[in-house]
Amino acid sequence: MTATDASHPAAMSKPGGLRHFLDLDQFDAATLRAILDLGHAYKRGEIAPASGPAIGKTLAMVFEKPSTRTRTSFEVGMLQMGGFVTVLNAAETQLGRGEPIADTARVLSRYADVIMFRTVSEAHLIEMAANTTVPLINGLTDKSHPCQIMADIMTFEETKGAIAGRTVAWVGDGNNVCTSWIHGAMRFGFTLRVAAPAGFAPADAVVAKARAEGADIILTEDPTAAVADADCVVTDTWLSMGNGAGSDENLMARTKTFAPYRVDEALMAKAAAGAVFMHCLPASREHEVASAVIDGPQSVVWDEAENRLHIQKGILHWCLAGAGIEA
Ligand code: CP
Ligand code: NVA
Repeated sequence: MTATDASHPAAMSKPGGLRHFLDLDQFDAATLRAILDLGHAYKRGEIAPASGPAIGKTLAMVFEKPSTRTRTSFEVGMLQMGGFVTVLNAAETQLGRGEPIADTARVLSRYADVIMFRTVSEAHLIEMAANTTVPLINGLTDKSHPCQIMADIMTFEETKGAIAGRTVAWVGDGNNVCTSWIHGAMRFGFTLRVAAPAGFAPADAVVAKARAEGADIILTEDPTAAVADADCVVTDTWLSMGNGAGSDENLMARTKTFAPYRVDEALMAKAAAGAVFMHCLPASREHEVASAVIDGPQSVVWDEAENRLHIQKGILHWCLAGAGIEA
């Protein structure tokens, strides 16, 4: 991997190139393809349990936000690969009392062979990356969620075949998960249509960079236009962690704004025949998605959640394989 993104100088500061997994747009397509192929191989049982580079290695995970899937899939995956895991709720560590992330990174690097960090702020991830001496995995920030989109592309490939040249429609908030879908479109050659209400489109800089690198990103406020003949329809919560979740006022305001963006059966009917529905979960039924869709025949959300386990193994494998050893 060559980390070339100036927005992540930390990723470039390591002589010899620590195998951080921070954002999909930092990777070349071949490396992401290799990691995806590892995920498929782990799922098919072509790589035996406890036979890869994680044997005897320790994963430390630090959570500044809640998690069900990310925590469990990384923990189970690492254990099945023959490794060990320690999980830290940041608020219960000295981070919660003000110990710098940089110092935490230095200390955790003495105990663990790879670190996964779910953080409230991309700046925290960059500080961790700049100070670890072991690979760091982005387990979600306010800006991106790369592990999720690797699982999503894996799920698309299983159900629909090659994703290059196909069309994915994102409907709803142009949030962290949407940004990683844009990064995915940059490296996997599919068209991404994003339908978001005014004020909730993905960041201009993210879209501009993707387009400058040749990605086919179409922005609209019209969910029907985004979904027309799409091969995959994706949505996510209207209120991400950090968007004031728990604030009734915020939720009510967003619900009004986002109501036309609910993925219901009528909207799914505009997609291509055989289109799949994805959601990273957790879902809020009857808000961003109708129960009839998420629980319906086009939904692949449980496969998508399962694939978090398989792709985490691919990501851990690549991170731990060591510089110079190709995935
Ligand atoms: N999709 C996802 O990352 O789920 P968790 O928040 O449960 O980890
Ligand atoms: N956009 C959501 C994703 C949760 C996995 C959030 O950040 O809360």
